[in-house]
Amino acid sequence: MTIAAVLTAAGSGSRLGRDIPKALVPVAGVPMVRWAASALASVTGRIVVTSPADALADIVAALHGVPAEIDVVVGGETRQDSVRAGIQSLAELGDDATVLVHDAARPFMPVAVMGRLLQAIEHHDAAIPVLPVVDTIVTGVGADVSYLHRPSLGAVQTPQAFRLGPLLDSHRRAHADGVEATDDGSLALHYGYRLGTVEGDPLGAKITYAADLEAAERRLSA
Ligand code: C5P
Repeated sequence: MTIAAVLTAAGSGSRLGRDIPKALVPVAGVPMVRWAASALASVTGRIVVTSPADALADIVAALHGVPAEIDVVVGGETRQDSVRAGIQSLAELGDDATVLVHDAARPFMPVAVMGRLLQAIEHHDAAIPVLPVVDTIVTGVGADVSYLHRPSLGAVQTPQAFRLGPLLDSHRRAHADGVEATDDGSLALHYGYRLGTVEGDPLGAKITYAADLEAAERRLSA
């Protein structure tokens, strides 16, 4: 099976309170994008990384020596735009190739989850890691608030695995239709592709706020 990856790293560090792109923020001295790319490199030799336009050289430098063929491309305005840019540069691999789409903001997703995804993609067009939701979730605010049924909810993580053909098709159609989503699995499902789920891992939590970064530092030093 041909396996490649798109690693999104074109976001800003604004919610982390940093003035460098989040992917370049170090955890235990190593930039997040390098942690995430190193994990992907244990399952694939080809990684496309999306970068902010003004940080290309820094992203390339942060990835120096990661054991994979790595292309760094300029990302888009939204995460969805960035993923579309990344997968377009893999199109020559053919529709049957498997592509893992991963966020640099989840630097510590265990490789075991990638293994589960690569198994699931043998029988699906797309596969996503899911964790049970621990918080009770509401929708709406104030007088419009209503509760969702927690036992039926799941939190979706990355990487997510796709056959390249369905992934390209979903992204191209979403772009043409003006459909926007916060992950890629939802686009595949929206366009009628078979989506499977595997068990996610709490270690793959997204680093969004300064407290997430401090928790990751503490865990690594323990
Ligand atoms: O902002 P958020 O945490 O949802 O971003 C998820 C991932 O998408 C991050 O790894 C970020 O670098 C990436 N991203 C991107 N292009 C954007 C926005 C976010 O590659 N325009």
